[in-house]
Amino acid sequence: MTIPVSLVINGKTQAFDVGAHHVVADVLRERFGLTGCKVGCDQGVCGACTVLVDGAPVTGCATFMFAVDGREVTTIEGLGLDGALSPVQQAFLAAGAFQCGFCTAGMILSVTALLLRDRDPDEATIRQWLAGNICRCTGYNAIVEAVRRAARQVAEAS
Ligand code: FES
Ligand code: FES
Repeated sequence: MTIPVSLVINGKTQAFDVGAHHVVADVLRERFGLTGCKVGCDQGVCGACTVLVDGAPVTGCATFMFAVDGREVTTIEGLGLDGALSPVQQAFLAAGAFQCGFCTAGMILSVTALLLRDRDPDEATIRQWLAGNICRCTGYNAIVEAVRRAARQVAEAS
């Protein structure tokens, strides 16, 4: 059985049929080639598959595609504007906030959502917000620094 869905993915309306059991991460990767959405644990725990749905972070491996019918999905591929990195992407690069990079797309999307809600988060808030995004490499300090940098950049630009 398939279900028709219509949603916006990275600014473009897409209409297609999905199986009732298909999850967002698999559809984004396999149908649309958006492989920035990583699958780590595949159990809704690590956050590597995080995407934004209407600006809120969602685990793509644990969300059925039909459940985002009519919504707006943003992946890491859709974050920059006109080929330029977003402020959060730039800040992660400047702070060296990644090593293997497997967690990075999900981390950046979560941080993007955080800064939409809190333009000047303190360290405790940042660490709490990112509790659902697990990084096995960096020790998190550089990630926190990247978030502070991104917050400063966003504040200066506004
Ligand atoms: Fe989705 Fe780990 S792969 S939360
Ligand atoms: Fe390797 Fe985060 S940079 S898991």
